[in-house]
Amino acid sequence: MTTLQAINGFKDILPDQIHLWQRLEATATDICRRFGMREIRTPILEKTELFVRSIGEATDVVEKEMYTFADKGLTMRPEATASIMRAFIEHGMHVQQPVQRLYTMGPMFRHERPQKGRLRQFHQFDAEIIGPTEPQQDAELIAMGHLLFSELGVKVSLELNSMGCPKCRPAFRQRLIAGLEGVQDQLCEDCRRRLHTNPLRVLDCKKPGCRALVADAPSIQDALCENCTSHFATLRDTLDLLGIPYNLNRFMVRGLDYYTRTTFEFVTDQLGAQSAVGGGGRYDGLIAELGGPAVSGIGFAIGMERLILLMEQNEKENSAALSDTDIYLAALGPEELKHCTLLAQFLRQQGLRVALDYSGRSLKAQMKIAGRMQAHYTLIVGEQEWAGKEAILRDMQTQQQGGFSLSGSPLEQSERLAVVLRAGSGKSDPA
Ligand code: HAM
Repeated sequence: MTTLQAINGFKDILPDQIHLWQRLEATATDICRRFGMREIRTPILEKTELFVRSIGEATDVVEKEMYTFADKGLTMRPEATASIMRAFIEHGMHVQQPVQRLYTMGPMFRHERPQKGRLRQFHQFDAEIIGPTEPQQDAELIAMGHLLFSELGVKVSLELNSMGCPKCRPAFRQRLIAGLEGVQDQLCEDCRRRLHTNPLRVLDCKKPGCRALVADAPSIQDALCENCTSHFATLRDTLDLLGIPYNLNRFMVRGLDYYTRTTFEFVTDQLGAQSAVGGGGRYDGLIAELGGPAVSGIGFAIGMERLILLMEQNEKENSAALSDTDIYLAALGPEELKHCTLLAQFLRQQGLRVALDYSGRSLKAQMKIAGRMQAHYTLIVGEQEWAGKEAILRDMQTQQQGGFSLSGSPLEQSERLAVVLRAGSGKSDPA
């Protein structure tokens, strides 16, 4: 019989990795709190139409990557922005509070070819600010992403572009098409198709042939209208003020159609072909397009698996993975085990991480278990120690050991023990 395995591109997150996920989630949550953002959670399944109308019919995501139940007209979300905007409109959130600062974390689904850093089920940390139109707000949001990377000790660089607005983009689009029509035979198959449906995407095709062909294409940054030019200039000034470095990249065109003006990506050269760790931008027309009020928005999403790959490469993270056990209680007889069972309960009530084994294994076997768990301490309660009312407390790192008195009630013993453990692991006593 063949054993069952997870689907290609769908991955388990195993306990050995979980500390990285928890650290990422906790840091992101805390940074969101500092920036006044509130969490929102939306369903995984939405009407297909939501994604078609927001992400755009002629995008790779909608054309070929969505997991759709065609007979039901439903799709598993490929990203979070569309769902958050749907929820914003549906619940009239702008009525309660004209500026909404929202974030979410969770799984997204895209049917792409799996490779390092590219999955079919992946997770995003997504942040959206709905309402403000000012470029300083764009800079603030970018600064929030920047702070997350820096607090996680991960180096990325920031690519910045502006996609213009409905006033200036159409003329640029026409110029681009006209310029590329002359060389369309030399474009790759995808770009030849995109030339008339989504010509800006040709600018960020990764194929060397197409890259060479667009090298001399006009720059959108030179084709912006007055308002877009001034928005982009103030954004850059504010990033300079905040000391956030960026590269102007006129070829960086995001893969989703809803963007206007500011677009950005956080990139790395550490992940092979998957260079984008996060990306986002402004989407001033999206909410109205979906039937909501005419309000602006800006946001980004970070690919959590990609960020975790970078955190893993960080040596500091690997050493932080160590112990998740403060003390292992080694009991060597039925009475001793009863006592340790109660002691464990009291220690856990005081917030300590305790392990013990009920199978009556030898001291040697139990010490092996404690070693494998990388427990900070082991308390040994054998027949002799039980009779003499003094257990052995061993510091597993220094291998030093001493007596621990078993006098007083088990609760009182656990309190004395907790003080020693906290002092030993450098944790402060909350009591
Ligand atoms: P996106 O660029 O499509 O933007 O995705 C954001 C990030 O999700 C990427 O930079 C990447 O790290 C990660 N990602 C995307 N696809 C995969 C995949 N197949 N496997 C692993 N990671 C992946 C958005 O989704 C927009 N909603 C961002 C946004 C929010 N714009 C405005 N607000």
